[in-house]
Amino acid sequence: MKNLRDLRVQGKRVLVRVDFNVPMDDKGEVTDDLRIRMVLPTLEYLISQGAKIILCTHMGRPKGQRVEKYSLAPIAAYLAKMLNKPVPLAPDCIGPEAEKMAKAVQDGELLMLENLRFHPEEEKNDAEFSKQLAALAEVYVNDAFAVSHRAHASVVGVTAHVADKAPGFLLQKEIDYFHRAFDEPQRPLVALVGGAKVSGKLEALENMLDKVDRLILGGAMANTFLKSQGYDVGVSKVEDELLDTARELLLKAKEKKVKVYLPVDVIAADSFAPDAISKAVTIQDIPAGWMALDIGPASVLCFKEVLAEAKTIVWNGPMGAFEMDAFARGTMAMAHEVAAAHALSVTGGGDSNAAIEQSGEANNISYMSTGGGAFLMLMEGKELPGIKALQ
Ligand code: 3PG
Repeated sequence: MKNLRDLRVQGKRVLVRVDFNVPMDDKGEVTDDLRIRMVLPTLEYLISQGAKIILCTHMGRPKGQRVEKYSLAPIAAYLAKMLNKPVPLAPDCIGPEAEKMAKAVQDGELLMLENLRFHPEEEKNDAEFSKQLAALAEVYVNDAFAVSHRAHASVVGVTAHVADKAPGFLLQKEIDYFHRAFDEPQRPLVALVGGAKVSGKLEALENMLDKVDRLILGGAMANTFLKSQGYDVGVSKVEDELLDTARELLLKAKEKKVKVYLPVDVIAADSFAPDAISKAVTIQDIPAGWMALDIGPASVLCFKEVLAEAKTIVWNGPMGAFEMDAFARGTMAMAHEVAAAHALSVTGGGDSNAAIEQSGEANNISYMSTGGGAFLMLMEGKELPGIKALQ
């Protein structure tokens, strides 16, 4: 793979695929700009080199239709403010108007193309659409780690039609950090995995058994593991069809000498609501008809000790229903412990990142990945199509 600094970009039209699929509120305001901030070094470099920058991204899932709420107009305006430079928006990502506007971009200036997913061809990795996108530029840069697990036209198809291509600084950074944490870690390497479902993380868990020394499991997915060990978890969320799989996974971990830590207590509640009646109970004492919505204080202490010994930590998924204050303590405590550990800490996934922001520890984490699905795919030990296409 080439390096962005190896490419001659001065005076050239550079198509930069970014992932500005950022959370927005009802008023159309950006509520978390991590994905935009992280691309600034690439953009600032290209500006300083006098490249003509043509940005493209998707936003949401408009299913191949033009849907106004997914227009990139607010994102272009947001970026313009950050860069203190105009970022005009082409009304479409291909077609005569986009071509005309792309040709008019001056050295060191930018243009943003309208949402790629307004065309169904984007997600189909359509060859003709890829060609039309590629024709807008002479150089292609992928700085969209968070969508590099999708074999879409702007991520994969386009690369067949551009000779000069490279990862942007963000994509490179994501690869480097993941490599340091997962392939050449300082040991012990501890994985902290939570979230709602075992099913979505099954392949990642399997793969991790060959990589990590210790595995901490929390969140609703821990219920399935607890039930597989014979605990009565009341009406907690459980994937009953995966009980055997969970049991086998724990056995495999034992064979591979990976220590697995499950919650020893939980915050149990009488309903899934912010004002539910709740109490800390051991996992043997979850009342009938109640559900586990967070890890309990004893689990926090136990997990804290494991994290304190780690030299490398990979974290994906919250420890409970942290969006409700009453059930956020476990996740917040983990954010503080990961931040306090003398370890390389790499986190990924929208929920874990949101929790870290909420805890105020963002500056104390070694690296917060911008990827959700893409981060998980790396945890599964797979190559991302968008990265492969650059090789
Ligand atoms: C993400 O938010 O994970 C990426 O932007 C990819 O979005 P998608 O899941 O809609 O493909």
